[in-house]
Amino acid sequence: HNADKGEFKHYMLKEIYEQPDAVARTIEMALDNGETTKLRDDFLQRHETLLSGIHHVQVIACGTSYHAGMVAKYWFESLIRIPCSVEVASEFRYRNPVVVDNTLVICISQSGETADTLSALRDIQKQAPAGLVSLALCNVPTSSLVRETDIFLPTLAGPEIGVASTKAFTTQLVALILLILKVGVTQKRMTDEHLNTLLSELHQLPGQLYASLNLDAPIKTMSESFEDKKSCLFLGRGLQFPIALEGALKLKEISYIHAEGYAAGELKHGPLALVDKDMPIVVLAPKDSMFDKLKANMQEVHARHGELFVFASEASQMVAEDRLHLVYVPDVCETLAPIVYSVPVQLLSYHVAVMRGTDVDQPRNLAKSVTVE
Ligand code: G6P
Repeated sequence: HNADKGEFKHYMLKEIYEQPDAVARTIEMALDNGETTKLRDDFLQRHETLLSGIHHVQVIACGTSYHAGMVAKYWFESLIRIPCSVEVASEFRYRNPVVVDNTLVICISQSGETADTLSALRDIQKQAPAGLVSLALCNVPTSSLVRETDIFLPTLAGPEIGVASTKAFTTQLVALILLILKVGVTQKRMTDEHLNTLLSELHQLPGQLYASLNLDAPIKTMSESFEDKKSCLFLGRGLQFPIALEGALKLKEISYIHAEGYAAGELKHGPLALVDKDMPIVVLAPKDSMFDKLKANMQEVHARHGELFVFASEASQMVAEDRLHLVYVPDVCETLAPIVYSVPVQLLSYHVAVMRGTDVDQPRNLAKSVTVE
């Protein structure tokens, strides 16, 4: 059956390697081969009326799916200027939240069966604000979540077996950017030129993901430095902040090393106190609009004898030095960079976990799908 591990030692590694194909399939939902002037006519066509009326977005999700939602918030607001809130379902459902009229509620869930996410959705539906539209971004077409929402936007990741989510996450990000483009076009919130640029960048994405898998060997070498570590920080800014959170989540889930993701600008408000020579600090550092700020953050850490493990683009002109280890990630535009930078953090966690001899696909105390509270 197609969920066989094949030549791979673990499902997680197989699923990491499936990402270029899974992402290409997901892109094809909205984009014809080579087409850069428009989205496919049939992409979410039935739902255009619903999507044309929404003024706010509320994302609800758990775990890795929540991190995808955080990236979507940056995209919704910066690309098409629609306000977007994101919250973990287990908090949202118990605080009697306000959902304003004309909200698009996006529930992101690989399984579509996560109890907290489903309950949060049902609570909003009970509250029934005017113009409410609900959307399931989900990898399982037959799930409860898909049945209970107005719009189903699939991730075409194929079955994901490893408890730590990988290809479901990157395909969620792709589906979210496609949705944002669709809303942007439908509501005329995006110029043709901007659309063309993003579409041609999307066409390059599977190739960039494929190239990022070539980092496997250098990342495996890097991972040796983590084997005996107790705690680790992941830093990013802007669109890379959610990827820092996701990197930390992956590392703790499968290697059992304590890890925290931080927005690098918050370092000085706490985590800097933890930094010493035993503290590895992973930094997501594409050459984007935040790079110079991030570089200053790296210097703060370096000056306090922290050991830096940096994923950067060659264009950053960073060079390895004492206590600064560097892996170059393939060039990618700023908007789509969080998708490509997900791969090195997945590979790093994977190799650290294998070295520490944990059960990579079935980490202790965790379940693939949390269907009870
Ligand atoms: C569990 C899984 C995670 C997943 C989360 C949300 O904690 O171990 O990998 O991100 O549930 O699951 P969902 O199916 O709703 O995306």
